[in-house]
Amino acid sequence: MFEEAQYFAPVAAQEDGSVVVELAASHPGFADPVYRERRNAIAQLALDYEPGTPIPSAEYSEQEHAVWEMVARELGVKHQTYATGEYLDGAARLGLPQDRVPQLEEVSKLLEPLTGFRYRPAAGLVPLREFYGVLADGFFHSTQYVRHHSVPFYTPEPDVIHEVIGHANALAHPRYAALYRLAGQAARRVEGEEALEFVSKVFWFTMEFGVMAEGRDLKAYGAGILSSYGEIEEFRGMDIRPLELGAMGATEYDITKYQDVLFRAESLQHLEDVVGGFWDSCDDDAVARLLATGV
Ligand SMILES: [Fe+2]
Repeated sequence: MFEEAQYFAPVAAQEDGSVVVELAASHPGFADPVYRERRNAIAQLALDYEPGTPIPSAEYSEQEHAVWEMVARELGVKHQTYATGEYLDGAARLGLPQDRVPQLEEVSKLLEPLTGFRYRPAAGLVPLREFYGVLADGFFHSTQYVRHHSVPFYTPEPDVIHEVIGHANALAHPRYAALYRLAGQAARRVEGEEALEFVSKVFWFTMEFGVMAEGRDLKAYGAGILSSYGEIEEFRGMDIRPLELGAMGATEYDITKYQDVLFRAESLQHLEDVVGGFWDSCDDDAVARLLATGV
């Protein structure tokens, strides 16, 4: 599974002002010039974007709309079994289109009346402090490109399917949206890079890869699990650990594999108490203590 801060394809501005997305040779779209041209154009849209203006529409091919339709349909079925009740509530309230890729402006218009969150286009990696900081203001940075159509159930990078199906459905629920905002406030409050990374790691193991008890079942609320066709059926068999801040901050993860260590909240209230409470008040000293002693 990808890692937000490290796994985006680099975006390079050329001398003539054009933009090139540097796909690795192993990327499924590497040898497809039409796909690469579209990736460059979509990255350019984000780089030219002026906050406060409508998000420009990205041009998608029929194949890309078909990828969305197939993945959204399959994930929708799996969500009934594997997603938390709040995530399903959020998805029902948001009402994303199932048969085509929605534009980010459209996602914002659906989301804002529910929880105040709006989307912002991102060409690729957004610096951690910016990505997390603006969550406090109700903005979520999102890529706009679609994974390559040759492998609809795989992506080496976070694409619009992850950003919207994974995150927007969660952001449509007020209690999850409040947690995202608290993460943003924490990222703005801490000063050192070590503390910022700790805040982002807690986000990684919760809003990206969090799992939660629901009755006798283990459900997922993390966007990384809920947008991954493969991972969604595997998470119950992973190494599931108690929701401890020090452990989350000290656990390394391998970006090239499924996330094999997961942290389990006993309820949404438990998540709000432990993680929401931490983000609501943490500072550099609190993080240093957690790193030194684990508590
Ligand atoms: Fe994500």
